[in-house]
Amino acid sequence: MSHHSKTWSARFSEPVSELVKTYTASIQFDKRLSLVDIQGSLAHAQMLAECGVLSEADLADIRRGMAEIIDLINQNKIDWSVDLEDVHMNVERLLTQKVGDAGARLHTGRSRNDQVATDIRLWLRGETDTILQLIADFQAALLNLALDHTDTILPGFTHLQVAQPVSFAHHLMAYVEMFGRDAERFADCRRRINRSPLGAAALAGTTYPIKRKRTAELLGFEEVCRNSLDAVSDRDFAIEFAAAASILMMHFSRLSEELVLWSSQRFAFIKMSDRYCTGSSIMPQKKNPDVPELVRGKTGRVYGHLIALLTLMKSQPLAYNKDNQEDKEPLFDTVNTVIDTLRIYTDMVSGIVPIVENMRQAALQGFATATDLADYLVKKGIPFRESHGIVAAAVKYAEEQKCRLEDLPLEKLQSFSPLIEDDIYSVLTLEGSLKARNHTGGTAPNQVKKQIEFWQKRLSDKNAQ
Ligand code: ARG
Repeated sequence: MSHHSKTWSARFSEPVSELVKTYTASIQFDKRLSLVDIQGSLAHAQMLAECGVLSEADLADIRRGMAEIIDLINQNKIDWSVDLEDVHMNVERLLTQKVGDAGARLHTGRSRNDQVATDIRLWLRGETDTILQLIADFQAALLNLALDHTDTILPGFTHLQVAQPVSFAHHLMAYVEMFGRDAERFADCRRRINRSPLGAAALAGTTYPIKRKRTAELLGFEEVCRNSLDAVSDRDFAIEFAAAASILMMHFSRLSEELVLWSSQRFAFIKMSDRYCTGSSIMPQKKNPDVPELVRGKTGRVYGHLIALLTLMKSQPLAYNKDNQEDKEPLFDTVNTVIDTLRIYTDMVSGIVPIVENMRQAALQGFATATDLADYLVKKGIPFRESHGIVAAAVKYAEEQKCRLEDLPLEKLQSFSPLIEDDIYSVLTLEGSLKARNHTGGTAPNQVKKQIEFWQKRLSDKNAQ
C-alpha cells in the first residue's frame, strides 16, 4: 500500500519510515475499541441523516456495511493494518471498501479527536458497569463467609500486636465496607465518564448543523461536554478511573497480606483451597499462597498506570495532542487487572476455611481482654487512667506467672483493686469481651449480624435495579 492511501496523505511528499509508522500507530492496541468505535459511528451517521447532512440511502449503506464489519470482528476475521494507523481509519477503510461513497461520507462533521474521546468513554463506561457488578459479587462472597463466623473469635491487632478480641465476621465486614466505598468511587466516576464529546470535532466544533444532544441520547450519554476544546483533550475521567482502581487494588493488597499471614504456619488461622496455592519446585512440603501474593504485586502495576496517566496529561496545552494516544494501554491493563483480580478473589474467598481453634488460642494469648478489665473498674467508679495502671500491674504479674488474667485467683486480682468481684471472670472471657461491644460498628455478634443484614439488603436492592 503506498503512502498515498493514508487519509491525510495528499500534502505529504515522502512516506514515513516503517519505524515511524509502527511507532505512531495505535491499531496494535486500540483495535480493542472497534465495537464502540462502530457504535459511535452509527449514532453519528444517524444524527447526520436526521439533520439532513447525510442521505437516508447513505445511512442505510453505512448500517449495512457496519453490520458486516461487526460480524467480521466477532469472528476475529479482520486483518488490521498498521498502514491505517488506528482503529478509526481501519474501520472507515473497511466500510468504504464495502459500501463506497457512503463510507467516505461518514467522517463528515467529525474528527478522530472527538471520535477517540467518545470511544474511550463508551468503552470505559461498559467496563465500569462490569466492575461494579463484580465488586458486588465479591462483597456477596465475603458476606457469605461472614455469616457463619459472627461467633468465631480471633485477636484483633494494632501494630500487629494482639489488641482486643474480634469476630472473624467483623474482620471480614471491614473489607465489605472498604469495597463498598470502592464501588461508590467507580459509580461516581461513571457520571463524569458518561458525557458526550461527539460534535467537538477536531477542537472547535463543526460547521454542519449537527445535534449533539441527539448523538448523546443515542449513545446513552447523560450529558454533552459543554466545551469543544475540553471535550477532545482532557482525560481526567480516565485518571479518576485509574485512581479508583488504585484504591481498590490497595484494599486488595491489604486483604492479600492478611491471607498470606493467616495461611502461614506461624498464624495458621486459615486454610486456602489448593487451587489458589502452588508448590515449590525444590521444597516438597511447601504450599505457597501465590494468588494473594500476586494480587499484592499487581497493585503496583495499577498504581503505575495511574502515575502514567497523570504524567501523560500533565502540561499538555489545549487541545488534542498525540500524547493522548498513550492513554489506552494503561487503561486497558488497569481494567484487565481489576476485573481478573475481582473474579479470582470472589472465588478464592469462598474457599477460605478458618481454623477456628487456632484463632481462639491466639486470642487467648496476649491479654486481649485487659481493656475489658480496665472498663470494668471504670464502671465501678475508678478514673480510666488509674484503672489502666491497675490493669497494667495485673498484666505484668500474670506475665511473670506465665498465666492469663483469668487464671489468677480472685484474692490475687483483688490485691490490685478491692473493687474486683467474682463477676470479673465472665468479663475476661473472649465471648464476654465481644458481647460487651454492643453498639453500631462494634464487634458484638448481634451487631455484626445487623451489618451483614444491612449489606445483604443493599446488594440485593442493587441487583434488583
Ligand atoms: N489514535 C489516536 C489516539 O488514540 C486517534 C486520534 C488521532 N488524532 C490526531 N489528530 N492524530 O489518540
